[in-house]
Amino acid sequence: MQYKRILLKLSGEALMGERQYGIDPKRLAEYAKEIKEVVAKGIEVAIVIGGGNIFRGVAGAANGMDRVQGDHMGMLATVINGLALQSALEDEDVHTRLQTALEIKEVAEPYIKRKAIRHLEKGRVVIFGAGTGNPYFTTDTAAVLRAIEIDADCILKGTRVDGIYNTDPEKNKDAIKFESITFKDVIEKGLKVMDMTAFTLSEENKLPIIVFDMNTNGNLLKLVSGGKIGTIVEN
Ligand code: GTP
Repeated sequence: MQYKRILLKLSGEALMGERQYGIDPKRLAEYAKEIKEVVAKGIEVAIVIGGGNIFRGVAGAANGMDRVQGDHMGMLATVINGLALQSALEDEDVHTRLQTALEIKEVAEPYIKRKAIRHLEKGRVVIFGAGTGNPYFTTDTAAVLRAIEIDADCILKGTRVDGIYNTDPEKNKDAIKFESITFKDVIEKGLKVMDMTAFTLSEENKLPIIVFDMNTNGNLLKLVSGGKIGTIVEN
């Protein structure tokens, strides 16, 4: 296996599947199966999930809502997604723990780094909910932060595009995909991988980011087994 401990970042939107809003149980079950395959190989898996399928703080602010209020709603949305993913994984007999950056003790464990690492060592999937627990930070930033804290080998950003291109592949047929690219080149070329807070945190801490298509069955396993999937961003 290429990696021992990974942090998988899933977008909330991805959970919508074909829907316009909320959670598609079929998509959730597919993700759980993909994750189970990787856990079965002995890889330690931590997950950060977004909340955009339910609520985005930025969108709320654009409509006149107080940004902090909106971000709190977004954080709670990630907890809802975390609970859903936890259920789907348990349906696949995968042991999981959900830890949240905001204390909601009756619902999930509070985030404690050392406990999270012990869970991972015991083969449990750890889902981190409520982002960083602070407004103005994205779940990408939460993913990088947690990955650094738990000393993950890399961050796998599951998207619907199979990597990083020189131009938008959904708009331009001639777009060229990078197999690997440096953090510096991403910035120089003006490519969008993550927001700058997340991106520079990753760069400073030499945490590779791999962008890949999470919606193709078997991709996650191929990737952690060393297959040439997606695009890797490294120093
Ligand atoms: P070990 O230390 O390996 O025994 O880990 P563990 O998670 O099995 O032990 P613990 O006794 O801490 O947790 C047992 C169960 O309670 C697990 O499902 C935890 O997720 C859950 N749990 C632990 N702490 C909290 C909490 O603060 N709130 C909630 N809602 N559940 C918790």
